[in-house]
Amino acid sequence: MAVGAVVFFGAGQTTTPKDNTSALVEIEIPAELSGHAIIGKRLYQENCLACHGENAVGQDKVAPPLVHKIYEPSHHGDESFQRAIAVGVRAHHWNFGNMPKIEGLTRTDVAAIISYIRELQRYNGIS
Ligand code: HEC
Repeated sequence: MAVGAVVFFGAGQTTTPKDNTSALVEIEIPAELSGHAIIGKRLYQENCLACHGENAVGQDKVAPPLVHKIYEPSHHGDESFQRAIAVGVRAHHWNFGNMPKIEGLTRTDVAAIISYIRELQRYNGIS
């Protein structure tokens, strides 16, 4: 599999509202991701980015940031991510509307996406 660059933005760069006017949070991007998270990032980009935005910073009027305290492991454990993909999410925390279930991902695929999001969260002090 072609993995490409380890990070989409350069090491240490920050996604700011200036870079991405629809981002809902400003985060730091880790210089390196684990191998599992790199796989997860690709899957994230193919399946989640369109709504949750580049690096899971959310998208104004579309979907919430996943690099957010609400989604820390103790409040939204890995199983709630699995469930969100398998059956979708009824809007409850925000006013973005419902999330549809996402077809074509195995639990293993979703586990890799979770690794990616957890690494972004931890790097930004959400754990
Ligand atoms: C069509 C747009 C869309 C896509 C694609 C999408 N989401 Fe969502 N997602 C949403 C919205 C909107 C919400 C907010 C629901 C709410 O109000 O809590 C959400 C909520 C979530 C939640 C919170 C679940 C909960 O229990 O509160 C998780 C986790 C999540 N998304 C992960 C993902 C992942 C991972 C992907 C890719 C595999 C993905 N989403 C793809 C729109 C989307």
